Amino acid sequence: MSATVTPLRPQSQPNDLESFWMPFTNNRQFKRSPRMLVAAKDMHYRAADGREILDATSGLWCVNAGHGRPKIVEAVQRQVAALDFAPTFQLGHPLPFELAARLTTFMDGHFDHVFFTNSGSESVDTALKIALAYHRARGQGTRTRLIGRERGYHGVGFGGISVGGIVKNRMFFGSLLNGVDHLPHTHNLEQNAFTRGQPAWGAQLAGELERLVQLHDASTIAAVIVEPVAGSTGVLVPPKGYLERLRQICDRHGILLIFDEVITGYGRLGKPFATDYFGVKPDLITTAKGLTNGTIPMGAVFARKGIYEAFMDAPEGSIELFHGYTYSGHPVAAAAALATLDVYKEEGLLERAAGLSQYWEDSIHGLKGARHVIDLRNLGLVAGIELEPRPGAAGARAFEAFTKAFDKGVLIRVTGDIIALSPPLIVEKPQIDQMVDTVRTVLKEVA
Ligand SMILES: Cc1ncc(COP(=O)(O)O)c(C=O)c1O
Repeated sequence: MSATVTPLRPQSQPNDLESFWMPFTNNRQFKRSPRMLVAAKDMHYRAADGREILDATSGLWCVNAGHGRPKIVEAVQRQVAALDFAPTFQLGHPLPFELAARLTTFMDGHFDHVFFTNSGSESVDTALKIALAYHRARGQGTRTRLIGRERGYHGVGFGGISVGGIVKNRMFFGSLLNGVDHLPHTHNLEQNAFTRGQPAWGAQLAGELERLVQLHDASTIAAVIVEPVAGSTGVLVPPKGYLERLRQICDRHGILLIFDEVITGYGRLGKPFATDYFGVKPDLITTAKGLTNGTIPMGAVFARKGIYEAFMDAPEGSIELFHGYTYSGHPVAAAAALATLDVYKEEGLLERAAGLSQYWEDSIHGLKGARHVIDLRNLGLVAGIELEPRPGAAGARAFEAFTKAFDKGVLIRVTGDIIALSPPLIVEKPQIDQMVDTVRTVLKEVA
């Protein structure tokens, strides 16, 4: 790594680790033995002790173009000096208009409006609210039910955890939203273990949506939200035909289909979005993360043709959608996003995973037979490596693998007992080898 810039506060080990209440972290464990990152360039982080760490997780599924890309850095620097902030409530500034127009060019004009947020969680809440308000605007205000899926992750807002399906993310936080149901998840080791790409078994699970329609009646259901490939619960690849079936059932009953593409968006599968990859068009798409290459927080919700228009019959002079964030379309974030899209385009990054995916698949499946491994799955440039849980200590084995890999200079991500890999889209084959070799070595060492 040739990190050229000195961090603003070069002190690598702050004196007070206590005050920062860290998100989704075992705070006590971390603060006893911190893993501190102080710089990053291209495929590598630099740790506080000076070691280079190969990034096999794109930070947190977001740094798709690799770290410290000069074009993005310069765009942010220029924009913050020129216009640090301007409201987008009843005022405007040029960048979000330019960005939205550019984003709509991605998908054959099918999605013609974009609502900006600051995160994946906000994108999800925004999409759910748009779905509810859309039906109401069309005189179908009885459509209030939302349907998510078991093992789904849709961020941490109350909307997102209500439609999400991760027990620990839900159980501490009261009764959540009313009127939410869940489809069954599609993960089945007996049927699908060690499948390369999309599993053959499981499309029928989409039929559970019909059952929910029979139970509640379509006139009460607003939207279904799923991740096309579930990321955070360990890379669950949709069975062949599953997403198509969901689309058909939604169409039959006038239910909106939302794809949460916070992870799959911006090139992860070798196409710009999962909707392109699977050839299934939802009504709303939520994105964030790769939109700005993780540089500045920003999310974007894409709405298909007709959704925005449904709101435009509101009385003249009235706000059409009572929703938005102070930082919706923030100038610096928008500048980062525009520069990120330039980098993606110039380097063909939104398609690059397609050329690497076979090598990736072969490398990942080369771990078959490695110690503790009970499943391997992959699509595009994402992979899940499922480990047999240690009896009575779910997650402990994978967490140990994570810390050992970090010590050996590779950043992996773990969720429960699943290792999830999703490298920046600039990754080279020798770096894929290094990731897989490190995982293999670590699994030999982990008890
Ligand atoms: C599919 C999906 N939706 C939503 C989110 C939430 O995004 P954020 O953490 O930016 O709020 C994530 C984060 O990983 C995600 O993977």
